[in-house]
Amino acid sequence: MAKATEVSNGAQIEMGKPYFCQECKRNHTKGKIYKEHLKFATAIEDEENPDEMVSNNELDEENGEAADYDDNFEDIEVEENIDFLDTEDDLEDEENPDNDEIADDIDDDDVNLDNGADACVEAVKKLPGVGEATLKKLIKSGFNSLESIAYTPPSIIQEESGLGEKTIVKLIKSSMDKLNIGFKSAEDVWEHRRTIAKILTGSQELDDLLGGGIETGSVTEFFGEFRTGKTQLAHQLCVNVQLTREHGGLEGNALYIDTEGTFRPERIIQMADGLDLDHKQVLKNIIFGRAYNSDHQILLIKEAANIIKEKNIKLIIVDSIIGHFRSEYIGRGTLANRQQTINSHLHDLLRLSEINPELAVVVTNQVQSKPDVFYGNPLQAAGGNIIAHGSTIRIYLRKGKGEQRVAKIVDAPHLPEGEAVFSITENGITD
Ligand code: GTP
Ligand code: MG
Repeated sequence: MAKATEVSNGAQIEMGKPYFCQECKRNHTKGKIYKEHLKFATAIEDEENPDEMVSNNELDEENGEAADYDDNFEDIEVEENIDFLDTEDDLEDEENPDNDEIADDIDDDDVNLDNGADACVEAVKKLPGVGEATLKKLIKSGFNSLESIAYTPPSIIQEESGLGEKTIVKLIKSSMDKLNIGFKSAEDVWEHRRTIAKILTGSQELDDLLGGGIETGSVTEFFGEFRTGKTQLAHQLCVNVQLTREHGGLEGNALYIDTEGTFRPERIIQMADGLDLDHKQVLKNIIFGRAYNSDHQILLIKEAANIIKEKNIKLIIVDSIIGHFRSEYIGRGTLANRQQTINSHLHDLLRLSEINPELAVVVTNQVQSKPDVFYGNPLQAAGGNIIAHGSTIRIYLRKGKGEQRVAKIVDAPHLPEGEAVFSITENGITD
């Protein structure tokens, strides 16, 4: 049954059969991968469960040289040419007894692997080489779908999951392969864009300007001076996202990250009442997080990845994206650092909208005066080019007469420049 037999340390070790390593003080699965350790090997007899032993051997034989992805993968001398995606067998889920031992070291209180019903987690579990320990780390750090792995830079997955770099690169590659990420025809892109879901704003004119409402899969930025309605729009969208699809919602919940302390449930109640909704339920469906500083704000968004699916979140609001950064990073010397941090924060948001098939992200932004502008509007969005490039659709808001506000498309890949007038009333945003 076994392929080869090696004699070491006085014990006969069959290739593919687990053995106890005196050096590591633990069991290794495959003599070949841990070749260097064979001299420390002693055979183990699985008296308790001989059947399982046999089946492990059979599995190993089938899998040939399937790579072992436990934590120590990169610390251990790895036999060269173990190509992760080489054989079809590699694509099979690998049961690795070694992982059990490592898994014990991980605080798995809040990691639930029995999430059998979750097709996304199941798909990650089936990635080649993903054993229980790796899966736990991935899920714990929010990488619970193929998309979340495929779209995230390796350095970020590494930082958050603690997995090794080589492991991550292979995981990303196989996730991409499974998702068929690569070139596709413009027709396919159009097919996808045609079906993009949108959330109505409450104002027909504003919806028309936006090409049918706030798009999912993108980051939309509202920027403007104080009292131009950014926060009011954010509140309204949290209510509207809960509407049925035929009424312009996504039948989903909202996550509201408040950095300025201006979230007002009483406004939500007024808006819900205005739409004849049960305001108690509407309030329940808005998950609120108050960010007290920029680090906290970044952390909240990182944590959001874990609750989007579980809580059926279809809209994330960050009101405002820049406030904390502006007050914390003071002086020219800190500018580069600030821009870099905002950039990565925005990309976290963008990624969330791309990973989750029906999620809209809306951020608000302040304006700053640009003293060198003599003609036109001297106000420009704070945060400079970083935010401009990070958000997909940008809308500038300014005050009109009384309750009226004017929205202007400043940048959108698919929309003509134009303006719309809407009103802020007691019942929320209307025409
Ligand atoms: P900053 O956060 O200060 O930058 O401003 P913002 O753009 O977020 O302003 P916000 O959305 O909070 O708009 C505030 C304005 O909304 C107020 O000045 C009012 O004009 C309007 N508003 C708020 N509540 C009500 C209301 O109950 N009825 C009416 N008619 N207007 C309201
Ligand atoms: Mg505001």
